[in-house]
Amino acid sequence: MRIADRLESIELSLIRQINALSTPLSVNLGIGEPNIPPDETLREMARRAATMPWQYSPNAGYLSLRRKIAEPAGVDPTSEVCVTAGTQEALYALFQAYVNPGDEVLVPNPGFLSYATLARLCGGQAVTYGLEPPDWSLDVEALRGRITPRTKLIIVNSPSNPLGSIVNELALRSIAAIADERGCIVVSDEIYREIWYEREPPSMLGMGRNVVVANGMSKSHGMTGLRLGWLIAREELMKPVITAHQYIATCASVFSQSLAEMILSDDAWNRTWLVRVRAQFGDQRTTALHAIERELDAVIPPPAGAFYAFVPVPTCDTLTFAKTLATDGAVLVIPGIAFGPAGEGFVRISYAAASDQIGSGIERMGRWLRAAGR
Ligand SMILES: Cc1ncc(COP(=O)(O)O)c(C=O)c1O
Repeated sequence: MRIADRLESIELSLIRQINALSTPLSVNLGIGEPNIPPDETLREMARRAATMPWQYSPNAGYLSLRRKIAEPAGVDPTSEVCVTAGTQEALYALFQAYVNPGDEVLVPNPGFLSYATLARLCGGQAVTYGLEPPDWSLDVEALRGRITPRTKLIIVNSPSNPLGSIVNELALRSIAAIADERGCIVVSDEIYREIWYEREPPSMLGMGRNVVVANGMSKSHGMTGLRLGWLIAREELMKPVITAHQYIATCASVFSQSLAEMILSDDAWNRTWLVRVRAQFGDQRTTALHAIERELDAVIPPPAGAFYAFVPVPTCDTLTFAKTLATDGAVLVIPGIAFGPAGEGFVRISYAAASDQIGSGIERMGRWLRAAGR
């Protein structure tokens, strides 16, 4: 059967392909999934959420949940928030609502691989803007230089997957101003904003008329499988997104919505939870950075947020390297090329794993590299 042209050159992501090589003996430093199980309070909230109605909610989500999201953001819950089946669906709905064939979408390079694929699924084209190693700083003037009359969306992801870097507030404000001036939409993917170490990352919320913020509970609350995300945008921008979202998902899971509402209603518990999450990832970051220095002979700037280390490896083809390491060394890491051409020469190590796994995975990686003479 001939598949639709729009899917012709699109495959499952390299992240999924590498994870498919996992065996029970593998050390998995590939998956971007918090290793933080629910505590008893969260489990109790889930039990209560299961007793709530199971019928459809409004397309944009329960108003009571939208209020919880809108309140700290200072936006109108009735028209400026849409709850989605994960941040991934939020992005998909947004691209469906705004990207026409021939349109251009500015994406970070290296950056989360979905952005370029979502552009292609709409017949659009991803145009990359660079982030410069070793600290992966964003050069606003270089980004401005990549904008053309066809640019529809500018994607910003801070803290970044796969880099762990944070874009400073001045740069974010400049990008929001440029988008307003040039009539494009900035999509600020803030899914890792609660996971930070030294300083809380700035949000783009309210920085410009054309800023859309995407966020969700996958990473902050270890709820990846429960599919709960949201978008915040002014009403005029939001309307077509809600229409697209209706035909993709109808509404986000009402169970997950009820759970999210309970979480966001319990300020004291939520604050304590997030402090604990940051502390655990902070410890795992320390373990990862020490092992990277000791075993891989690489010193990288400590990632300021998220739970990824983007590490240079002395090999010319990181895809072959990651596949061979997965099958022969039983360690899963993601080849940098999965995140765009600028990722070649690097691998993404997720330190969302137990410290002993991080230590032994990176040690095995180092042993394997030394045995290969690298
Ligand atoms: C940068 C980024 N955006 C969005 C997503 C999608 O998250 P969700 O589980 O909410 O769909 C991910 C997941 O890995 C991500 O890393």
